[in-house]
Amino acid sequence: MDTFDCIATKLDIREYSKQKVPIEIREKILEAARLTGTGLNTQHWRFIVVEDKHNLNKLAEDSTSGKWVTEANFAIIVLTNPKYNYHMIDAGRVLQSMQLAAWNFGVGSGLFTGIREQNFRKDYNIPEQMNITVVVGFGYPAKKNLTGKRKNRLPINELVHYEIYR
Ligand SMILES: Cc1cc2nc3c(=O)[nH]c(=O)nc-3n(C[C@H](O)[C@H](O)[C@H](O)COP(=O)(O)O)c2cc1C
Repeated sequence: MDTFDCIATKLDIREYSKQKVPIEIREKILEAARLTGTGLNTQHWRFIVVEDKHNLNKLAEDSTSGKWVTEANFAIIVLTNPKYNYHMIDAGRVLQSMQLAAWNFGVGSGLFTGIREQNFRKDYNIPEQMNITVVVGFGYPAKKNLTGKRKNRLPINELVHYEIYR
Protein backbone atom coordinates (compact mmCIF):
# COMPACT_ATOMS: atom_id res chain seq x y z
CA MET A 1 0.00 0.00 0.00
CA ASP A 2 1.16 3.53 -0.75
CA THR A 3 2.46 5.19 2.44
CA PHE A 4 0.08 8.14 2.21
CA ASP A 5 -2.92 5.87 1.60
CA CYS A 6 -1.90 3.75 4.56
CA ILE A 7 -1.86 6.82 6.84
CA ALA A 8 -5.04 8.24 5.33
CA THR A 9 -7.13 5.07 5.67
CA LYS A 10 -5.87 3.62 8.95
CA LEU A 11 -8.31 3.61 11.81
CA ASP A 12 -7.90 2.41 15.36
CA ILE A 13 -9.70 -0.92 15.54
CA ARG A 14 -11.15 -2.30 18.76
CA GLU A 15 -13.31 -5.11 17.39
CA TYR A 16 -11.54 -8.08 15.87
CA SER A 17 -12.52 -11.17 13.95
CA LYS A 18 -11.44 -14.63 15.14
CA GLN A 19 -9.19 -15.04 12.10
CA LYS A 20 -5.63 -15.59 13.21
CA VAL A 21 -2.93 -13.18 12.08
CA PRO A 22 -0.20 -15.24 10.34
CA ILE A 23 3.09 -15.43 12.19
CA GLU A 24 4.91 -13.88 9.19
CA ILE A 25 2.79 -10.72 9.49
CA ARG A 26 3.42 -10.54 13.21
CA GLU A 27 7.13 -10.81 12.50
CA LYS A 28 6.87 -7.96 9.97
CA ILE A 29 5.16 -5.79 12.59
CA LEU A 30 7.96 -6.52 15.05
CA GLU A 31 10.56 -5.89 12.36
CA ALA A 32 8.93 -2.51 11.65
CA ALA A 33 9.35 -1.75 15.35
CA ARG A 34 12.97 -2.83 15.37
CA LEU A 35 13.80 -0.69 12.34
CA THR A 36 12.26 2.50 13.75
CA GLY A 37 14.70 5.15 14.89
CA THR A 38 15.13 6.24 18.51
CA GLY A 39 16.69 9.43 19.85
CA LEU A 40 20.49 9.04 19.68
CA ASN A 41 19.80 5.50 18.39
CA THR A 42 19.57 4.35 22.00
CA GLN A 43 17.05 1.56 21.17
CA HIS A 44 16.02 1.56 24.81
CA TRP A 45 12.61 0.09 24.09
CA ARG A 46 11.56 -3.48 24.75
CA PHE A 47 8.43 -5.30 23.57
CA ILE A 48 6.40 -8.04 25.19
CA VAL A 49 4.25 -10.05 22.78
CA VAL A 50 1.12 -11.42 24.43
CA GLU A 51 -0.99 -13.98 22.55
CA ASP A 52 -2.08 -16.53 25.13
CA LYS A 53 -5.81 -16.01 25.71
CA HIS A 54 -5.37 -16.09 29.47
CA ASN A 55 -2.71 -13.37 29.29
CA LEU A 56 -4.82 -11.25 26.90
CA ASN A 57 -7.67 -11.45 29.43
CA LYS A 58 -5.26 -10.37 32.15
CA LEU A 59 -4.16 -7.43 30.00
CA ALA A 60 -7.78 -6.31 29.82
CA GLU A 61 -8.21 -6.70 33.59
CA ASP A 62 -5.03 -4.70 34.19
CA SER A 63 -6.26 -1.90 31.92
CA THR A 64 -8.59 1.02 32.63
CA SER A 65 -9.18 1.90 28.97
CA GLY A 66 -8.50 -1.20 26.89
CA LYS A 67 -11.02 -3.87 27.84
CA TRP A 68 -11.42 -4.62 24.14
CA VAL A 69 -7.93 -6.19 24.06
CA THR A 70 -9.39 -9.57 25.13
CA GLU A 71 -10.62 -10.00 21.54
CA ALA A 72 -7.28 -9.13 19.94
CA ASN A 73 -5.34 -11.84 18.20
CA PHE A 74 -2.20 -10.70 19.99
CA ALA A 75 -0.96 -7.61 21.77
CA ILE A 76 2.36 -5.89 22.25
CA ILE A 77 3.32 -4.10 25.44
CA VAL A 78 5.74 -1.27 24.65
CA LEU A 79 8.26 -0.51 27.39
CA THR A 80 10.51 2.54 27.20
CA ASN A 81 13.26 3.83 29.43
CA PRO A 82 12.29 7.12 31.11
CA LYS A 83 15.91 8.05 31.78
CA TYR A 84 15.83 9.38 28.20
CA ASN A 85 13.66 12.49 28.21
CA TYR A 86 12.52 11.79 24.64
CA HIS A 87 11.32 8.27 25.41
CA MET A 88 7.65 9.13 24.78
CA ILE A 89 8.48 10.53 21.35
CA ASP A 90 10.23 7.26 20.57
CA ALA A 91 7.19 5.36 21.79
CA GLY A 92 4.89 7.34 19.49
CA ARG A 93 7.11 6.64 16.53
CA VAL A 94 7.33 2.91 17.13
CA LEU A 95 3.63 2.69 17.80
CA GLN A 96 2.82 4.33 14.48
CA SER A 97 5.35 2.12 12.66
CA MET A 98 3.71 -1.03 14.01
CA GLN A 99 0.17 0.16 13.35
CA LEU A 100 0.93 1.20 9.77
CA ALA A 101 2.88 -2.00 9.05
CA ALA A 102 -0.12 -3.98 10.30
CA TRP A 103 -2.64 -1.91 8.32
CA ASN A 104 -0.59 -2.48 5.17
CA PHE A 105 -1.45 -6.19 5.56
CA GLY A 106 -5.09 -5.51 6.40
CA VAL A 107 -4.51 -6.06 10.11
CA GLY A 108 -6.22 -3.61 12.44
CA SER A 109 -4.86 -2.37 15.74
CA GLY A 110 -5.87 -0.34 18.75
CA LEU A 111 -3.94 1.01 21.66
CA PHE A 112 -4.45 1.82 25.28
CA THR A 113 -2.56 3.83 27.82
CA GLY A 114 -4.80 3.29 30.84
CA ILE A 115 -2.54 0.91 32.72
CA ARG A 116 -2.77 -0.43 36.28
CA GLU A 117 0.94 -0.22 36.73
CA GLN A 118 1.54 -2.49 39.70
CA ASN A 119 -0.61 -5.26 38.21
CA PHE A 120 1.31 -5.03 34.96
CA ARG A 121 4.65 -5.18 36.71
CA LYS A 122 3.61 -8.28 38.62
CA ASP A 123 1.76 -10.07 35.81
CA TYR A 124 4.37 -9.49 33.10
CA ASN A 125 7.51 -9.33 35.24
CA ILE A 126 8.32 -5.77 34.12
CA PRO A 127 11.46 -4.24 35.67
CA GLU A 128 11.10 -1.05 37.74
CA GLN A 129 13.39 0.99 35.47
CA MET A 130 11.16 0.47 32.43
CA ASN A 131 8.11 2.63 31.78
CA ILE A 132 4.98 0.78 30.67
CA THR A 133 4.13 3.21 27.91
CA VAL A 134 1.47 1.75 25.67
CA VAL A 135 -0.25 -1.51 24.78
CA VAL A 136 -1.26 -2.24 21.17
CA GLY A 137 -3.74 -4.96 20.26
CA PHE A 138 -3.77 -6.47 16.76
CA GLY A 139 -6.25 -8.52 14.75
CA TYR A 140 -8.26 -8.53 11.57
CA PRO A 141 -11.12 -6.04 11.86
CA ALA A 142 -14.48 -7.59 12.70
CA LYS A 143 -16.20 -5.15 10.35
CA LYS A 144 -15.36 -5.09 6.66
CA ASN A 145 -15.14 -1.99 4.45
CA LEU A 146 -13.87 0.34 7.16
CA THR A 147 -11.45 2.02 4.81
CA GLY A 148 -11.93 5.75 4.57
CA LYS A 149 -14.81 5.87 7.04
CA ARG A 150 -15.03 7.38 10.49
CA LYS A 151 -12.01 9.70 10.24
CA ASN A 152 -12.92 12.65 12.37
CA ARG A 153 -10.19 15.26 12.05
CA LEU A 154 -9.94 19.05 12.16
CA PRO A 155 -9.53 20.83 8.82
CA ILE A 156 -6.01 21.77 7.81
CA ASN A 157 -6.64 25.54 8.18
CA GLU A 158 -7.33 25.07 11.90
CA LEU A 159 -4.12 23.19 12.39
CA VAL A 160 -1.44 24.75 10.24
CA HIS A 161 0.19 28.15 10.56
CA TYR A 162 2.67 29.54 8.08
CA GLU A 163 5.74 31.48 9.17
CA ILE A 164 4.32 32.50 12.59
CA TYR A 165 1.57 31.31 14.91
CA ARG A 166 -1.54 33.45 14.28
C1 LIG B 1 -1.65 8.95 23.11
C2 LIG B 1 -2.85 8.11 22.79
C3 LIG B 1 -3.51 7.45 23.81
C4 LIG B 1 -4.63 6.65 23.53
N1 LIG B 1 -5.22 5.93 24.54
C5 LIG B 1 -6.25 5.12 24.24
C6 LIG B 1 -6.82 4.31 25.26
O1 LIG B 1 -6.39 4.32 26.42
N2 LIG B 1 -7.84 3.48 24.91
C7 LIG B 1 -8.32 3.42 23.63
O2 LIG B 1 -9.24 2.62 23.39
N3 LIG B 1 -7.81 4.18 22.65
C8 LIG B 1 -6.79 5.03 22.92
N4 LIG B 1 -6.22 5.80 21.92
C9 LIG B 1 -6.76 5.75 20.55
C10 LIG B 1 -7.47 7.06 20.16
O3 LIG B 1 -8.73 7.10 20.79
C11 LIG B 1 -7.59 7.09 18.64
O4 LIG B 1 -6.29 7.21 18.10
C12 LIG B 1 -8.41 8.28 18.14
O5 LIG B 1 -9.72 8.19 18.64
C13 LIG B 1 -8.47 8.32 16.63
O6 LIG B 1 -8.97 7.11 16.14
P1 LIG B 1 -9.15 6.86 14.57
O7 LIG B 1 -7.79 6.97 13.94
O8 LIG B 1 -9.75 5.48 14.43
O9 LIG B 1 -10.06 7.94 14.04
C14 LIG B 1 -5.12 6.58 22.20
C15 LIG B 1 -4.44 7.26 21.17
C16 LIG B 1 -3.31 7.99 21.46
C17 LIG B 1 -2.59 8.68 20.31
